[in-house]
Amino acid sequence: MPDTIIEAHGLKRYYYRGSETVKALDGVDLSIRTGEIVSILGPSGSGKTTLINLLSCLDAPTEGTLMMAGQSVAGLSEDELVEVRRGVLGFVFQQFSLLPTLTVSENVELPLMFLRRRTDARRTAEVLRMVGLSDRASHLPRELSGGQMQRVAIARALIVDPKILVADEPTGNLDKATGESIIALFKHLAADKGLAILITTHNPVFGYETDRAITLEDGRIVKEENLRKER
Ligand SMILES: Nc1ncnc2c1ncn2[C@@H]1O[C@H](COP(=O)(O)OP(=O)(O)OP(=O)(O)O)[C@@H](O)[C@H]1O
Ligand SMILES: [Mg+2]
Repeated sequence: MPDTIIEAHGLKRYYYRGSETVKALDGVDLSIRTGEIVSILGPSGSGKTTLINLLSCLDAPTEGTLMMAGQSVAGLSEDELVEVRRGVLGFVFQQFSLLPTLTVSENVELPLMFLRRRTDARRTAEVLRMVGLSDRASHLPRELSGGQMQRVAIARALIVDPKILVADEPTGNLDKATGESIIALFKHLAADKGLAILITTHNPVFGYETDRAITLEDGRIVKEENLRKER
């Protein structure tokens, strides 16, 4: 396992709309190590989601190179990108995206169905324990608080045993205390499981609790701050 799990050079993502070019990302260099939690800050429209989508292999760069877990993803086809994502990446979304008629356990197991992998009750119980929800396994999403729903979404991302966890505004729908508990959980997962974790946030309160904060403006990195305290 290489220490550097994500390496991007000169990443650009341009959108062409008629005669107009939107430079959503305009030359980003980034290197992320295993066990590191990094926040991406910046005003609305600065390119945070665009960057996260590239690092999630959900979108392809207009220009630049991107290595994920030792593999170059530039120029790969849709099918090949799916292969890179499989097992390497876990996703957490702002809206949680839980299915209302499935229990907590069933929601957590969903990615395994998409990957046509067998479910394993012990593994499901293990990831629920990791996010502190062992006592909610048979509950429905509507019986949970917002913070608990986000924990289910995190457990669902963890079930595939990813090396990289990517979260776009994971605290966006949460109050300060609940958001802080989610960041604390992410930090624990990075330190304990060696996951590389990337989160975007509007909120500097959350953004400055990670190992490193990267600030985007107009598609470029304008600030990079090392926040890691000696552990
Ligand atoms: N599909 C698209 N077509 C054209 N322009 C786009 C598209 N997606 C994003 N953009 C533009 O790219 C820029 C960056 O968008 P992005 O969604 O990455 O911003 P963001 O930092 O995530 O903002 P927010 O904080 O509001 O979520 C914006 O100017 C946006 O309008
Ligand atoms: Mg966004």
